[in-house]
Amino acid sequence: MSSPLIVVNFKTYLQGTGEGAVEIARACRDVGASSGLTIGVAPQLCDIYRVASQVDVPVYSQHVDGVGAGSFTGHAFARCVRDAGACGTLINHSERRLRLADIDASIQASKDVGLSTIVCTNNVATTAAAAALGPDYVAVEPPELIGSGIPVSKADPEVVTDSVAVVERIDPGVKVLCGAGISKGEDLKAAMELGSVGVLLASGIVKSKDPTAALRDLVSLIR
Ligand code: G3P
Repeated sequence: MSSPLIVVNFKTYLQGTGEGAVEIARACRDVGASSGLTIGVAPQLCDIYRVASQVDVPVYSQHVDGVGAGSFTGHAFARCVRDAGACGTLINHSERRLRLADIDASIQASKDVGLSTIVCTNNVATTAAAAALGPDYVAVEPPELIGSGIPVSKADPEVVTDSVAVVERIDPGVKVLCGAGISKGEDLKAAMELGSVGVLLASGIVKSKDPTAALRDLVSLIR
């Protein structure tokens, strides 16, 4: 089993001026270092600079818009996201959906500045459409399982295996992640056994009373 990519999405669970985001990012860095795994974080846009400048951890934006420099108001500008310290971005999360043409524009804007792209999808058909746009990753997450505590790897393993199969046919260079309800070591292990190369997760870590312990459990069955 190859080493997974794990990305912890902070969503808008955290309040304040970023201290909470830095604290969880440090937990991800420490558990990643001790386990030899890559654990990235996706803080809120306003916390990217703080987290990236204080913690040596891969930082992802939760969203990027397909706009360039100019007269665009209220957008997440890929170049500034990168300059703030992000190495990549989520695109089209179920809680931040875009139209297909906008997903394409976001991927291109991100690629132009060297941001790794993770396009989220809600089923096998959208996985196929996203893969055709050539992102680095697609991350399939059935919306009904997001935040449920019921892992996709157990509740809907076919959406993962079918996504892996369809992506292999469309563009074998695109890697597949999965997410929704993932929190335990057995969930991550099952996700990898289904053919994904890692997971997106949120509530199981960010809402935990002890994120470090939750992260240790998550990686406990890998390697
Ligand atoms: O981006 C990951 C997310 O949508 C999954 O959320 O809380 O089910 O781990 P959660």
